[in-house]
Amino acid sequence: MARKRSSQTLLKRPRNPDRDETGNRGKVINRFVENDLIRRVSYETYRDKVRDVYDGPQGAVLAACSLISLHSPLGDRLLRTRKFDLRGAKRILDVGSGAGQIAKHLLKYADADARVTCFDLSAEMMRRARNRLKSKAPHYLVADLARLPFASGTFDCVTCGYVLEHVPDAALGLGELARVMQPGGRMMLLATEDSFSGAFTSRLWRCRTYNRAEIKRVCRDIGLVWHKELWFTPLHKMMRAGGICVELVKS
Ligand SMILES: C[S@@+](CC[C@H](N)C(=O)[O-])C[C@H]1O[C@@H](n2cnc3c(N)ncnc32)[C@H](O)[C@@H]1O
Repeated sequence: MARKRSSQTLLKRPRNPDRDETGNRGKVINRFVENDLIRRVSYETYRDKVRDVYDGPQGAVLAACSLISLHSPLGDRLLRTRKFDLRGAKRILDVGSGAGQIAKHLLKYADADARVTCFDLSAEMMRRARNRLKSKAPHYLVADLARLPFASGTFDCVTCGYVLEHVPDAALGLGELARVMQPGGRMMLLATEDSFSGAFTSRLWRCRTYNRAEIKRVCRDIGLVWHKELWFTPLHKMMRAGGICVELVKS
């Protein structure tokens, strides 16, 4: 009887926030490794520091880092194989374009009459993107993901690669992106996950990491449907590696 009662108590125990949706342990160590600047200072102070990081030498090697980490070729493959299908999208927003890693694929695989808008917090990164893409086709601008200079419902497609981790709270960034998307609009979101490799990445780029379940919850709250999880390769899917990569649809 006593044994039965204790197992019932266990079943009722609230979920441990240090476990992910699958109940895996391991988040505590990652918290120690993860860069915590974003939690220590105001968003304005943090944003200035991040801008300095990307304006400087680290930003200058960003494109090379994306090649070495294979993010760039694997991202190309996601779009080339239409796992995230750009066909039909006419107004595409590329968030935090960096050196134009994703924008480069957009120019290759989007419809010829699609209008691509690239923005970044760092004017220096936008300059690098323009030089690297060697294309006047995109509209380039400097802006902050948390305060976008676009009217509601402007875009039917958004690509957001590794930028959300530079805002303190997913609802702030995703809420703003949802606002500028039209109903039925689609988003490819890539974000650093709260794994050990994610925590290590956060040290390099002074960003935070996200828990997959947390992002799912925020999406549900703001009307972004978690349409399908994307994986770079079958191996990434099997190992649940490569970070959060998902197609979201605005309801
Ligand atoms: C890791 S890079 C990602 C580049 C590219 N999107 C990719 O997928 O490889 C992050 C970029 O986001 C930009 N960024 C950081 N915080 C931002 C913000 N609040 N608004 C807009 N861009 C931001 C940085 O300047 C940097 O260029």
